[in-house]
Amino acid sequence: MQAIRVHECGGPEVMRLEELPDLQPGPGQVVVRVKAVGVNPVDTYIRAGIYAAPPLPFTPGFDAAGEVEAVGPGVNRVAPGQMVYTAGTLSGAYAQQALCEEAQVHPLPLGISPAQGASLGIPYGIAYRALFQRARALPGETVLIHGASGGVGTAAIQLARAAGLTVIGTGGTPRGRELVAQQGAHQVLDHRAPAYLEEVLELTRGRGVEVILEMLANVNLGKDLKVLAPGGRVVVIGSRGPVEIDPRDALSREAAILGALIFGATPGEYAGIHAALTAGLENGTLRPVIGQQLPLADAPRAHKKVMEPGAYGKIILVP
Ligand SMILES: NC(=O)c1ccc[n+]([C@@H]2O[C@H](COP(=O)([O-])OP(=O)(O)OC[C@H]3O[C@@H](n4cnc5c(N)ncnc54)[C@H](OP(=O)(O)O)[C@@H]3O)[C@@H](O)[C@H]2O)c1
Repeated sequence: MQAIRVHECGGPEVMRLEELPDLQPGPGQVVVRVKAVGVNPVDTYIRAGIYAAPPLPFTPGFDAAGEVEAVGPGVNRVAPGQMVYTAGTLSGAYAQQALCEEAQVHPLPLGISPAQGASLGIPYGIAYRALFQRARALPGETVLIHGASGGVGTAAIQLARAAGLTVIGTGGTPRGRELVAQQGAHQVLDHRAPAYLEEVLELTRGRGVEVILEMLANVNLGKDLKVLAPGGRVVVIGSRGPVEIDPRDALSREAAILGALIFGATPGEYAGIHAALTAGLENGTLRPVIGQQLPLADAPRAHKKVMEPGAYGKIILVP
């Protein structure tokens, strides 16, 4: 089978397509014939060596979808021939086959394409965790999804709408903002416009929002605290450097700054996330948006694209 391999950490060009022996499942393991791979920003941090990388050489990636090819002894949740998505793998997702623990694979509901399945694990997982396990968002509250045009943002809009929240979403391009509106945001703002956050206060009649999901905290956290309602919660999902805040903004609102990390979910929380996602896929409220599909060999190009401005749903690799 073919897989992308990283022999040394570095720029996107360190990823190369290679021929590897076919994978065999051990006890409690599943081999998935991968039809689509989700590209996440964290894959680029790991490839570059700025985030814990597995021992070299490795195959990158967490999110894939495809058909169960073989199962090891003791596996009973899935069977060969079944379509599944992965949320984590043992062998890496950027490949024609992925070896997984049984708990890492989840049946793909009918009508959900492999590309959509490969968009679920990290983006929908963290969007659910940030909204409901960390911020404990409630129906009737207003959420600002600060960076709503990408993989996590579009997932968060769909999850928040399905749960009865009012959604304000931001995008940095006209195309991205159109997507944010299509996905169900009640109000759409341009995070590149001057003073756009003042509109958050106008839209909430001066009160501010109860919840903010923050994709770029190093740019926005200080400003976020000023548009929070009393008792508001900012969840830091993405950050690429330090930032200055005025702690008085948190104090005066009794606000909370929370971190959210997909890898921080306990086994029980992880199971809860995927049960909720399955329900949303089955009842039609969750529909991942695919922006672009590239061949697996184009992984270096996909890594450049996922770090560029102008996000539009998910970037998918097709093995
Ligand atoms: N904590 C975790 O476990 C976890 C899990 C998944 C992702 N993340 C992180 O969350 C972030 C988003 O991930 P993703 O998969 O959605 O990436 P993505 O698809 O590349 O989307 C990035 C988003 O950030 C927006 N953005 C750019 N500049 C912004 C600004 N100044 N203010 C607000 N938003 C801005 C982009 O908007 P435009 O392109 O339209 O400007 C886009 O909506 C990344 O930093 C990623 O590493 C963390």
